[in-house]
Amino acid sequence: MSSVVGIDIGNISSKIGVARARGVDVIANEVSNRSTPSLVSFGQKARALGEAAATAQTSNFKNTVGSLKRLVGRTLQDAEIQEIEKQFINAELVDAKGEVGVKVRLAGEEQVFSATQLMAMYLGKLRDTTSKELGGAGVSDVVLSTPLWFTDAQRRAMLDAAEIAGLNPLRLMNDTTATALGYGITKTDLPDSDNPRNVVFCDIGHSSYQVAVVSFVKGQLTVMGTAADRNFGGRDFDRALLLHFAEEFKGKYKIDVLSSPKATFRLAAGCERLKKVLSANALAPLNVESIMEDIDAASQLKREEFEALIAPLLERVTKPLEAALTQSGLTKDQIHSVEMVGGSSRVPALKERISAWFGKPLSFTSNQDEAVARGCTLACATLSPVFKVRDFTVHDSTPYSIKVTWDKAADVPDEDTELVVFQPNNPIPSTKILTFYRKENFDLQAYYAQPELLPRGINPWLGKFSIKGVSPDAKGDHSIVKVKARLNLHGVLNFESAYTVEEVEKEEEVPVADPQAMETDGENKEAPKTEIRKVKKLQRKGDLSIVSGLVGKDASVLAELKEKEGQLYSSDKLVIDTEDRKNALEETIYDQRSKLDDKYKLFVTAEEKEKYLAALNEQEEWLYTEEGEEATKSAYVERLAALNKIGQPIQFRQKESEERPKAASQLREALNRYMEMVQSGDEKYAHISDDDKQKVVEKCATIAKWLDDGLYKQSELPKNADPKITSAEMLKKKDEVIYFCHPMLVSRSHKDRAEGEARSGQADEEAEGFDEDDEEELEEEESVEGQPEEDTSGGDVSGSALSSAEEEERQLLERLARVPGGADHGANPVLASPDKLEQLFAGVVRARSETPSSAHSGSRGGSMGPGPTSPSAADAELVHFMSKPKPRTETPVETPKPEEKKADEGDKKTEDGPGEMDVD
Ligand SMILES: Nc1ncnc2c1ncn2[C@@H]1O[C@H](COP(=O)(O)OP(=O)(O)OP(=O)(O)O)[C@@H](O)[C@H]1O
Ligand SMILES: [Mg+2]
Repeated sequence: MSSVVGIDIGNISSKIGVARARGVDVIANEVSNRSTPSLVSFGQKARALGEAAATAQTSNFKNTVGSLKRLVGRTLQDAEIQEIEKQFINAELVDAKGEVGVKVRLAGEEQVFSATQLMAMYLGKLRDTTSKELGGAGVSDVVLSTPLWFTDAQRRAMLDAAEIAGLNPLRLMNDTTATALGYGITKTDLPDSDNPRNVVFCDIGHSSYQVAVVSFVKGQLTVMGTAADRNFGGRDFDRALLLHFAEEFKGKYKIDVLSSPKATFRLAAGCERLKKVLSANALAPLNVESIMEDIDAASQLKREEFEALIAPLLERVTKPLEAALTQSGLTKDQIHSVEMVGGSSRVPALKERISAWFGKPLSFTSNQDEAVARGCTLACATLSPVFKVRDFTVHDSTPYSIKVTWDKAADVPDEDTELVVFQPNNPIPSTKILTFYRKENFDLQAYYAQPELLPRGINPWLGKFSIKGVSPDAKGDHSIVKVKARLNLHGVLNFESAYTVEEVEKEEEVPVADPQAMETDGENKEAPKTEIRKVKKLQRKGDLSIVSGLVGKDASVLAELKEKEGQLYSSDKLVIDTEDRKNALEETIYDQRSKLDDKYKLFVTAEEKEKYLAALNEQEEWLYTEEGEEATKSAYVERLAALNKIGQPIQFRQKESEERPKAASQLREALNRYMEMVQSGDEKYAHISDDDKQKVVEKCATIAKWLDDGLYKQSELPKNADPKITSAEMLKKKDEVIYFCHPMLVSRSHKDRAEGEARSGQADEEAEGFDEDDEEELEEEESVEGQPEEDTSGGDVSGSALSSAEEEERQLLERLARVPGGADHGANPVLASPDKLEQLFAGVVRARSETPSSAHSGSRGGSMGPGPTSPSAADAELVHFMSKPKPRTETPVETPKPEEKKADEGDKKTEDGPGEMDVD
């Protein structure tokens, strides 16, 4: 089953949602955090991603990169990259084939990775985290969040990154739309379409602030207006604090924090902590141990001082609100509620200003940190066939208008040369058809129509689309060319298809206006008059081809990047595996050496110990040589195997000393049980023939002898000698005895029944009764399985739940019982007399009583001595099972009652079709 996953790609951290039958789960990563740092770090041997990158960051600033979503789809020359993003990135930013990238050192080599590659690496980590959560299942279909202000180039770069990471993004979803979906889909009280509920969603995260005005009616949401401040978020507040304290410490401690990346990092982390404390307190302390030059820096800040520091930012708070509301065409009093999400929506000054502007309290019903991931997951569930989710339609919108330009056709002098095809706030997805009159091929260029709205460095040019295969029509005139432009689910522009149409005349029945009909009374209305006329219609004629020149990467470049990522992934894995084997070797050396004087002391000969210690010491010495420090995976594996070869017999002897008594006890228990059964005078065993009883006794006696002989020989051996009898052999014998005895007893029981029925001459009646019994017994069995049984033995069996050994045996028996007919052992002509049975039985008892006492320890139900023994709980289970006739295969086919049939169908649907998901 393919997985259903939604990921909120945050600037500081990302959250992963997984759809399950009971709803959406935001999953925890390898260190149990529900969000994963959006960081990629390049180390001396391998890459570190997410949590590992956050750990590596402190000691590897220059090679650790964050702000991944701020970099994708942008260029090095981009003014915002140079003026804004650079402040938050320690790695060296460089050009990577027209895209911004980083120059880092990986495995001792200088390498350049583009922003798309960095994002792909990080997405790969999130993919692996998700896959692990899903028990190793492959992760492909996914919905990824993007800021609503992302442009075509940024969206295409995200899609490219997802492809490199082997993901299949079903949709790139705007942060605020995802939150709105999560909000709407869970509401059961949404109004009808004539009275929509208008909700404003404000997402203030780490790097940006987004606002969307969304109208909800039953089963549907429509984004009415959006706006954003792309450079407004938690990191800006942190930076304001950082600059403030850096300045303060210049005077107070005579240190320039900003001159050292490490000190800056430490202070920034302290500032973020202080900021969070200030969200709930009027005053917060700042303590940064060993910030630089061994100085422990300390200070404090009042909330109003913090607000003064971020005053320029606070002034910008209402701008996106105004813009989004204006675009929506709604007024403040039409707004039902204002939903706040994003980590920074906890800052009191922001909340106060937003609340004051709307003139109403804010709403915090969505999970501030996880709403976007939840929404993306729900979107993925609605797009994927795996789950059936409540129908909910999402009408998203694009913030940017798009125009298309073209060269004037020489012979169409008054033709326009551009057209705004998608207006601001145009719905996503949407398709527009453009019509041209052309005799030959032509080009279209697409641009964002208002470049001033874009992030500053983004090129407004979206692509060139050459329409090929155009020729004059049959009369030598212009062909009518239709071109389909589509803003797809990701918010990405494409020219999907182009074709020519021709005008054809068709005869059609058309209504004609009848002036008298207007005057006639409604009741005497006659059918409207029609007539056959020739009408001109456009008919699709031939398809044209489109050659696109887009901002995104072409397929061959993507394939190359995918291959490169695959190589990096494999080499990371090799490094991890090598490290793992090296640790395993190191651990083995210490572990085994200490055990030789402790756990293995009795199980090793002096000679072996000397040899093993020498080998362990040799490996330890090697490990600390230069060669051992940096060896290959196979070198560690080989050395580990060599040690294990010496250690294995010793480990085996010790382990066997623990396992042998347990296995012996299990075998003996099985033998006892069958012996008791055949020896018992109980009515319920009456069906077992003497012949079968004898076979059982003989089998049990032989195996008991084998066991006792083996255990006796073992008891004469020193503990440091290889075992004469092993636990595995005993367990095999246990299976053997069960396989031998059980079918014989069961099949005989069936035969007897059948014979009984035939003899009675009331086969039909009894067969019916048999069925009833059958049912009763089946029911009984269920109740037996579900309830603790009473201990009737009064022995050492505390008979409630089955022990694992008994359960294992029960399963083995059940498997056997499923074999049609069971085993047929034929008739044994030699019937054992009761005396002979007694003799054989006594033999077993005797043999058992002679076995070394260690072999008895832990034995349950081992009371094979004289005197009748009541069946233990497990026996009861066994007896019950054995006396139960097998359900007959020729069950009458009944026509189910209508309700039953319905229920069946329903069940089938859930099994075969999509699972239902509880979205509440
Ligand atoms: N209690 C708090 N008070 C103030 N700020 C907080 C608090 N808790 C978290 N933050 C800030 O919220 C920001 C993280 O928010 P969030 O997780 O929404 O960001 P993101 O989704 O990673 O970023 P973006 O949406 O910009 O890509 C951080 O700057 C963090 O310091
Ligand atoms: Mg966010």
